[in-house]
Amino acid sequence: MTPRPRLIVGNWKMHKTIPEAVGLVEQLAKHLRREPAAPGPPPAQLEIVVAPPFTALAAVASTLATHGLLVGTEGGTSRPGPPSVELAAQDMHWEDAGAYTGEVSPLMLKDLGCRYVIVGHSERRRYFGETDATVRKKVLAALRHGLRPILCVGETWDQRTRNQTESVLAAQLTEALTGVDKDQGTEVVIAYEPIWAIGSGHPATPPQAREAHRHIRARITALWGQETGERVPILYGGSVTAENIGELLAIRDVDGALVGGACLDPAQFARILVVAGSATA
Ligand code: 13P
Repeated sequence: MTPRPRLIVGNWKMHKTIPEAVGLVEQLAKHLRREPAAPGPPPAQLEIVVAPPFTALAAVASTLATHGLLVGTEGGTSRPGPPSVELAAQDMHWEDAGAYTGEVSPLMLKDLGCRYVIVGHSERRRYFGETDATVRKKVLAALRHGLRPILCVGETWDQRTRNQTESVLAAQLTEALTGVDKDQGTEVVIAYEPIWAIGSGHPATPPQAREAHRHIRARITALWGQETGERVPILYGGSVTAENIGELLAIRDVDGALVGGACLDPAQFARILVVAGSATA
């Protein structure tokens, strides 16, 4: 089996005005140029994605392109050299257009050059009434438009203490992925984000992450078969830092990370990328 590429996604959440976003990308570019390539074996295949707020997507794309960091721009994909970065949105509506005040459609995200979209983040479920049914519509719409959905799933602390983690994850996956066939499955990314770990400074322990990721892999394999199930990247999210990313990535079914707070610090995000890109992480 070919190893799955590693995927690191920075979710900026509701942070950064346009000038601040440009400044963050400038700093990140500087750090990426400065970080030495890891010595030893060739780096793992690493995909980097940033998810700024909607308002900053265009400015972030053009700043990345200026530095040759945007996928498809000069210097973007060649190795050695600076890595290439893809754009993600943090949410979207499922319709192409219509009377949906305040919403953003998949076509609009494509316009901006997005390749990924985060769907069903627990903050959207918790504060904005996102349900498994709306998450499913968004997953299907993303796939219809050639956007890779990053589907977020995860349990509360209360559910974990009641031994409901596996049933909660299974229900979220089943309901969000019903109607997605196995050919489309290879475009899906799953992010396991235990709600209690988000922003808490207390990430899942390696055994907790291992168990949850193994369970998610088993569910998607049951849904789409072994070949597709093995190809789907499963990211871990919740208090990821440059210090803990290595031990998380050492877990078999952890293929990358969805990083919140730490991605707003360009030096730390660059360090996370260096660890993720090293063969031994
Ligand atoms: P933190 O890394 O700040 O815990 O956030 C995780 C997250 O919600 C990413 O989507």
